[in-house]
Amino acid sequence: MVKSFKTFLKHTAKDFHNQSVNPPVVRASTIIFKSMKHIRNTQKKAQKNPIGGHYDYGRQGTSTTYILQKILTKLEDSYHVFTTPTGFGSVFLAIFSVVRPGDEIIAADPVYSPTRLLTQDFLKEFKIKTIFYNPHDLKTLEQSITKKTKLIFVENPGSNTFDFQDLGKIISIAKKNKILTAIDNTWGTPYYLKPIKLGFDMSIVSATKYYSGHSDVMGGSLAVNKKVFQKVKEAEKITGLRLGPDDAYLITRGLRTLDVRLDRHRENAKKIAAFLSKNKKIKLLYPFKKNSLNFRMWKKYYSGASGLMGLKIKSKNINSVRKFVNSLKLFGYGYSWGGFESLALHQEFRETGKRKFMNLSKDEHLVRLHIGLEDPNDLIADIKQALRHLR
Ligand SMILES: Cc1ncc(COP(=O)(O)O)c(C=O)c1O
Repeated sequence: MVKSFKTFLKHTAKDFHNQSVNPPVVRASTIIFKSMKHIRNTQKKAQKNPIGGHYDYGRQGTSTTYILQKILTKLEDSYHVFTTPTGFGSVFLAIFSVVRPGDEIIAADPVYSPTRLLTQDFLKEFKIKTIFYNPHDLKTLEQSITKKTKLIFVENPGSNTFDFQDLGKIISIAKKNKILTAIDNTWGTPYYLKPIKLGFDMSIVSATKYYSGHSDVMGGSLAVNKKVFQKVKEAEKITGLRLGPDDAYLITRGLRTLDVRLDRHRENAKKIAAFLSKNKKIKLLYPFKKNSLNFRMWKKYYSGASGLMGLKIKSKNINSVRKFVNSLKLFGYGYSWGGFESLALHQEFRETGKRKFMNLSKDEHLVRLHIGLEDPNDLIADIKQALRHLR
């Protein structure tokens, strides 16, 4: 009946039993039953319908986590969504579910740096090899495929450099070679891109960011298709990677306004991008400049853009870049993003340092801005005054 997701988010999960608009937090380690017969019946139901929200122990969730999973499954247009205590927990769960010793992973070169550490370094100790491909040259992906390749791991856009890739082409390469696919879709969220519909087997979102939207909770979601569901379900059980009910409640509450906030992040970011694009020292790492490869790849797959952008600043004077960043008054300094407030980070320690396909000269500096929900004119005025320090 309800066609628009915007309306669905406002009306779903009302609790007429408790007469509260938002469903209550149900905290439980022991799930209590009236009889052993009742336990057995629930277990039978869980076996018959493993996505049906039948649980006999708190590690499997409670009604609070199940409600969030149901909402996210609809938002993702997926078979099921698993929820984890952090976004990185979902990255781990996706990979751990499908790769085994002897397998190989092909990952996008600009993946989030902990994802790189996990694949390149940690999994190597378990005889799992990772090869990285150039996000703008998919021949490097095709050439890396071997009989052992089990998973292609994409992050779109790439962390910090915001490279947009040809997702459809990646999926067709994977399907042709019978390789599973996962994507980190934290930047766009399924509000702007639905990876499972596009053909990915798994899609990760750090719920810490836009889902929660208020910088006060951590969580992750892993959407899956039917093909990988059972494998992820088993891995979830073995690892115990499960979101707690208090965090699930906050994320569900955040989701009520996901569309409103993301629309505003997008409008604000567009205005700031228009302002920054006039500065000759700055190359904008955001889908703004029409006809650029990144813009075309974004336009092909996304219905909108979020508030996270990069600036590649050309300057022989790193102190002036530091001064620019430190002079911002309305941008907080700190990790994470996706909350209501603006944030800035100077990537001075080159978190991108281990990359194979990134040529950043010593006179190019990366700054990341998260454009929040403030009045965009105030943000532009703030950036303008700080830019006076750039030499
Ligand atoms: C693209 C991306 N994926 C995953 C994560 C990990 O999410 P969390 O911090 O919730 O573990 C982050 C965190 O910054 C991220 O930027």
